Amino acid sequence: MKIAPSLLGADFSKLAEELKSIEGFTDILHLDVMDNHFVPNISFGPAVIKALRDKTKMIFDTHLMIENPGNYIEEYIKAGSDYITIHYEAEKDIIGVLRKIKALGAKAGVSFKPKTEITADMDFLAECDLILIMTVEPGFGGQEFMEPIVAKIKKAVEIKKAKQLSFLISADGGINDKTIGHVSGLLDIAVSGSYIFKHPDKVKAFASLKK
Ligand code: DX5
Ligand code: ZN
Repeated sequence: MKIAPSLLGADFSKLAEELKSIEGFTDILHLDVMDNHFVPNISFGPAVIKALRDKTKMIFDTHLMIENPGNYIEEYIKAGSDYITIHYEAEKDIIGVLRKIKALGAKAGVSFKPKTEITADMDFLAECDLILIMTVEPGFGGQEFMEPIVAKIKKAVEIKKAKQLSFLISADGGINDKTIGHVSGLLDIAVSGSYIFKHPDKVKAFASLKK
């Protein structure tokens, strides 16, 4: 399992330094984009992603919490995103957008809010490189991990196996040294924002999530 620190938990006054502080521990960075429509918050957009692109070799895993994400794919790929994850609840033509992302050379993912079920008849799962299961309501860092969502993660693992699909399974929200035990063994990627970036000792922070 990889740990993907979420930049949302970083000190925005020194982003390049914050990247340096985690580079030795992981090769993937989670970037939370919010539009104040799909979620009641604004974070950052393509200009910030672009500005960070030449500061690090890390894989950029961009999580679009925005309405009509299909309209903005190209911009986020041009800015340097390697993965683009859209929300199931924000887009009618999921397969179309996933194909657009892949045609533009990036990997494609779909994210699910806590109340959204994942079911075996979701045809777009076969087109996903990644699925991102929200373990908090999207919109803010620092929220409490929703333990009931673990059942959904287990179901996704089962669907993947039964249908012989290849997407990576990731979870996002409230993941720290106390909650990682619920999801390790189930995930390919655990996203962790405030726990990693606010921890004074990054060696300990990463080690506690890898246990
Ligand atoms: C929530 C974001 C998460 C968040 C994770 O909307 O998608 O990526 O930053 O932060 P923590 O780990 O603080 O819950
Ligand atoms: Zn996220």
